[in-house]
Parts: sequence; structure tokens; C-alpha cells
Amino acid sequence: MPDLLAIDETSLALGLVLILLFIAGIFLKPDSLVHPILLGRQSDVDKVRKKGESAIYRNYGTGLMGRLPGRPSKEVQVLSDLLKPDFEGARFLWSHEVSNVEILRRVAALGAGLVNVAGLRERESNVLLLLNDGIEFIITDLALASHSIPSFTLTSLTLLTAVLESHPPSAIVLHASFVSQVLELIIENHEFAQHTLIVVGDDGMPKNLDRYRNKVKILRWEDVEGEGSKLGGSASRAPAESKDVFTVSFYEGGDNELKATQFTHENLTAGVASMKFLLPFNAGISPADCIVSAFSLSTPYGRTLAYTALYEGTSFATVKSASLYIVDEGNSRTVSEVLNVMQGNFPTPTILFLTPQHLDFISSSILSQAKKSFLFFLARRHKLAALQAGFISQDSFWDRFGFSSARNMVLRNMDRKIRALIITSGVPAENVTPSRLAISVPLVHAHAHPAVAGPVFASHPQDFQVFPSVTGDRKNEESRFAKNAHVGPPVLNVEVKLIGLDDTSVVGGAKPVGEIVLRGPSVGKPLDEGRILPDGWIRIHESAMVQNNGTFKVQTSNEVLKT
Ligand SMILES: *[C@@H]1O[C@H](CO)[C@@H](O)[C@H](O)[C@H]1NC(C)=O
Ligand SMILES: *[C@@H]1O[C@H](CO)[C@@H](O)[C@H](O)[C@H]1NC(C)=O
Repeated sequence: MPDLLAIDETSLALGLVLILLFIAGIFLKPDSLVHPILLGRQSDVDKVRKKGESAIYRNYGTGLMGRLPGRPSKEVQVLSDLLKPDFEGARFLWSHEVSNVEILRRVAALGAGLVNVAGLRERESNVLLLLNDGIEFIITDLALASHSIPSFTLTSLTLLTAVLESHPPSAIVLHASFVSQVLELIIENHEFAQHTLIVVGDDGMPKNLDRYRNKVKILRWEDVEGEGSKLGGSASRAPAESKDVFTVSFYEGGDNELKATQFTHENLTAGVASMKFLLPFNAGISPADCIVSAFSLSTPYGRTLAYTALYEGTSFATVKSASLYIVDEGNSRTVSEVLNVMQGNFPTPTILFLTPQHLDFISSSILSQAKKSFLFFLARRHKLAALQAGFISQDSFWDRFGFSSARNMVLRNMDRKIRALIITSGVPAENVTPSRLAISVPLVHAHAHPAVAGPVFASHPQDFQVFPSVTGDRKNEESRFAKNAHVGPPVLNVEVKLIGLDDTSVVGGAKPVGEIVLRGPSVGKPLDEGRILPDGWIRIHESAMVQNNGTFKVQTSNEVLKT
């Protein structure tokens, strides 16, 4: 008898709780964070189009300014201008706490060393950067750029032989652990003789280098910087200009061929300008933020992101799986590698630039934790309703039932700090809403390509709309894109149109589907002439569909961003 009574009390209490929750639900109806009309027309579309082509699509931000900005502010002409000298505070770049003044001092020292000790020549030499992400990459990159010595980067190690053969560099900057591998390649191919290797660190440096001494000059990066510093740094004889090419980025084309894009200082500073616009204007990136990225500095996207962080004065680091030059079994795209960034005093990240795999891992871990709460399904229903009404929050009444504690378990001390997540590229449509529920911060789905500094497309951070996808045989073309989440309109600084359009079906009301062509200040110049079309349009060998509201769905080729 007392047992039964006890059960009864429990269910009574439960019943009461449910009734209260139901009433609370009625009173806690949230407001949309962004006006729905804005989301109905996301691109600025030209009125006319050419035969077989779509109209030109632009970002609305571009329309307001009248022209495409080549830089985040007018003082920024070349790469090193991105480090505002009046920004006093120190911030973390990976594990180093440094101020802009300190970075610029080291850049001047290394620059002087590269010219006077390593014998590189301004506007003549070029240098291959085989470096993992870290402060040495940034310092070398800026030092080379300020002396107008173009750098080469690879998005994948498999390209090394092809690059050494087709574009032999004057010098290679690399990690000690990588020296023996590169020396072997150099010795095998005699024409690379008389190279200079500039070696960062000592770990893994091969012992017996004497037999190479007559073929290659081997210098320690630290010594080059040290000697340069004794010379008191030295200014470049012919200072870099915004229209100078500062880097050539090599990547693997869809056909396994070596592809390359040239970027000027201006192309990169324009990329920084478009990165800034990924978040809403009133919640832009500030020195109080801390950015963690999963994209290697050797990709144009990852590099532009790093310079955006430098420009904004935020702390910055990349995760381990972004390293190109360590072959390590443990490189997996999980939340633990994001948490691992916070070693030492590194601040808690607030903005994460991650891959779809990271997103999937994080959101499914949170949801499976949250499910352990007995009110999970009720809470999920209410959070979903709020999301459909255009509202997202980590602190809603319903988050107390499973979601908050699950987030804390998975994201640890990042859970209350993260304020935006930018995922690039290729989130499956079915993962978008569950991820928003789980993490409950604005989530941007961006698209990047190795031909562009910064993103190409990016969704509106507060666009939470979900529409049923096309089913059945209504337009085969459209159903090809059904599985992909849309990536919003083109970003500021990139104009997009589709070519190879089927005019009859577009006139018949179908959504335009075709090959993407781009132009704009953040777009680099392909070395492959076949990609350059009249009027500055560039082919990137990807196709897309535009939806009626101006958002794009992209079919990624295997050319997209290797990370
Ligand atoms: C890259 O920058 C140059 C000048 O700095 C600019 O003229 C060009 O339009 C930009 N984009 C392309 C695709 O060349
Ligand atoms: C835009 O409209 C299309 C239908 O044309 C729809 O499938 C898509 O989900 C909408 N996206 C947004 C963000 O409004």
C-alpha cells in the first residue's frame, strides 16, 4: 500500500510539472531575430540576364556600398598593414602571447635576414612555405610579402614533387622533421640543386647533413631572424604595393592535376573585408573574441581567416587536423582537438570555423547526452518551434531540460562562450536543424574555394528557415541538390553568375542550375588560362542552383578546399 502511494505522488508531481511546462510554453513564445522579408530576398539580382546565363548575383551589403571593397579599411594597402600598430594589447597566436609591435619587429628582423643572410632577392626570388600553422608561418609570410618575394603554398603534400619540378623555388622554409624527406626529393632531381633550406626548430633534424652541403645551403630560421635582428631589421628597397602578387597557392584540381591561383595583396585584404561580414554588423568580430579554425594557413581560406583575426586583434589558433606536414594517426576532426587548443593560457574560443565533420560530431554528441533528460522530447519540440519562429538561444526556459547540461559536457568551458559557428563547406541539409537545436548559437554555412581568398558564399547567421525539399520527379535538376544545405547568397566582394543554363526550363519557371563563374577583388587569378573568361569572370569548375530567395546550393567538386 505505501509503495503504490509513493508512485502516485511521483506521477502527480510529474503531471503538475507537465501542466506548468505547457503553460510556460504559451507564455514563452519568442520573437524572430531577423525580419522574414529580409530572408525572402537574400541576393541583389540584376534585372537582365544573357542568353544561356543567369543574372548576376551580389550580396546586399555590396549594393549599399556601391562598389566592391578591396580592403577592410582604407589604411590597409598591403598584408602588413593588417597589423594595426596602434593596437596595443597582446593576444594569443597559438601558444604565443604577442602584440602587433612585437610581431612587426620580428617580421622586420626576419626580412632583413632573408635578404642579407639567406641571399634572397626582392622581386626576383620566390619561397616555398612547407610550414604547419603557427606563428612562424605568419612571421615568414609577412617578412616575404614586405620584401616582395612571393611565397608558394601547397594544400596537400602530394603536390610537392610537381611543384618542385614545374616552379622550382629559390628557397624552402620547412620544419626540421621534414628535412630528410625534402632532401631526398632534391637529390633525386638534380635540377633543384643550389636550393636554400631554411629550417624551423630542431626536432627531428637529420644528423649527417655534410654530404648535402655542396648541393644545398641549410640555414636555421632562428639564426636568420637573429642575424637580421642584429642588422637592426632593414626596410625593403622597393616597398610592396597592393597590386603586387604576394603568393601563389597550389592545389589539386578535380582531375588530380596541379592547379594554382595567384593572389595580390589586394585580393587578400578584400578577402578579409568579406570575412568581416559573415557575422551581423552589430555582433562583428572584436578583440574580445577568440577564433579557432580548422583550416590550414596553406589554403587561401585559412590564410585569409588568420589575417582577419590579426586585423581584428583577436586571439587565434588552428586545430591539429589542419596541419599539413605531420603525418599523425591522431588527426581526427572531433571536439577534443578544439578543446586541446586551450592549453596554457589560451583564452576560451568564442567563434569557431570548423568542418562539417566537426559539426556532426559536436551536435550528435550533444543530442545523445541531452536525450537522457526525461523532458528532452518536450524541450526539443519547444526549441524547434522557437527556431521556426526565427529565434535561437542557449538560455531559453527549455534549455534547462537536457540541452544546457549536455552542451557543458561536450563543449566543457566553451559552452557559454561560443557565440557563432561558421561551417565550411558541404553540410548535409538534414544536419542543419539538429545542429542548431544542439548548439543553439548562430550557425553560418559558408562555401570556400582555393581560387578565392575568404569565402564565396555564406548563409545569413540568423536564417533558421527550413522548407521541405523537392520530392518526386519535379525537376531532376533540382533534386540533384536536395541533399545539400544551402550556403546563402554570395559574400560581399564576390559576384556570381551561372553559365550553361537551360533557357527553356528557366523560362518555364525552373530554378536556374549551371556552372558557377565568379569575379571580384577577393578572387585570385588562375594560372590556368582556360579558367579566365571575358569581363574578368573566373571558372571554378563547380555547379550550383539558385533558389527563389537568392540562396545557392552548391555541388562541391573534389576541388574544394582540402584541409
Ligand atoms: C586581384 O587583385 C588585382 C589587383 O590587386 C585586381 O585587379 C583583380 O581584379 C583581383 N582579382 C582578380 C581575379 O584578378
Ligand atoms: C529559399 O527558397 C527555397 C525555395 O525556393 C527553399 O527551398 C529554401 O529553403 C529557402 N531558403 C531560405 C533560406 O529561405
